[in-house]
Amino acid sequence: MKLNIVEYPDKRLRQKSKVVQKFDSMLHELLDAMYPIMINTNGIGLAAIQVAHPIQAFMLNIPVESGEQLDENLLEIINPIITNQDGETIYQEGCLSVPSFYEDIKRYEKLTINYQDRDARAKTIEADGLLSIVIQHEVDHLNGILFIDKLSYSRRKKFEKEYKRMLKEKKNLK
Ligand code: CO
Repeated sequence: MKLNIVEYPDKRLRQKSKVVQKFDSMLHELLDAMYPIMINTNGIGLAAIQVAHPIQAFMLNIPVESGEQLDENLLEIINPIITNQDGETIYQEGCLSVPSFYEDIKRYEKLTINYQDRDARAKTIEADGLLSIVIQHEVDHLNGILFIDKLSYSRRKKFEKEYKRMLKEKKNLK
């Protein structure tokens, strides 16, 4: 399966992802193809919509202290529902669909999430720290929301200007 990362301002990132009904080999193939893309681009999380599949699925792999991402720490989250969120935290976020930009974003500190794994088994996680932040970022993707949407008006304007300049430079390199 050949997948490419969809980048802002591509409108496909604004779709609402559909609930996964079939936990079949198609789903498994998609997830298997997403994982190396996430790891090879140094991503901590990746939603299916970012590779042009608007279904409610994402994966994440929180690096260990050395910065390495261990395969056994891969978490695949399908049809998530956040049931509880609490507290406040700020973290400098980035996104594979908004390359080269990092901004401080305010999120809930802790949350509880119900979801299914790739075999449709029901799971629950209580998350805090980076795990909680990544889950919120990825659940936003499923709703067509990007982290840059959370910037203040002036920071968003500055971002749009810089991003446009970067896209132009990219084009000129080709
Ligand atoms: Co993202």
